[in-house]
Amino acid sequence: MDKFEKGIIAASIVISMVLFFSVLVARSSYKADVPECIPADNIYTEGKAVMLDKNTWQLYYVARMWLFDPAEVEIPVGSEVDLYVTSPDVVHGFNIASKNVNMMAVPGAITKTTVTFDKPGEYPITCHEYCGMFHQIMQGKIIVR
Ligand code: CUA
Repeated sequence: MDKFEKGIIAASIVISMVLFFSVLVARSSYKADVPECIPADNIYTEGKAVMLDKNTWQLYYVARMWLFDPAEVEIPVGSEVDLYVTSPDVVHGFNIASKNVNMMAVPGAITKTTVTFDKPGEYPITCHEYCGMFHQIMQGKIIVR
């Protein structure tokens, strides 16, 4: 192995390590919560908002052609929310851009993530996976007061 090859191998190892650690740093500094896929033995078929206490909520979303159920939810500022998403028909997206929430609603499965809403406002939910003719009107809203 000549000197140039050794240099290229060393450089590629260093670059890989830098990229790997920058992902770890970005993940912790943005507090990114990677969505998990829950084995769905008992899939729910209707959306609901469950208040565990004043600032702890579980929101169960059903994404279907072409709406989110529930369409609109109001929660208090500072709420920690477990978001559950499923679909009875085709694959949909579940995106809350300002909270860095990016999940898929997959038939036969439940996707879950946890988010804290620490600022008041309206948080639009959009479907970001093409799901048919009226994909573009598929929206919901979380209102934080
Ligand atoms: Cu649902 Cu696009």
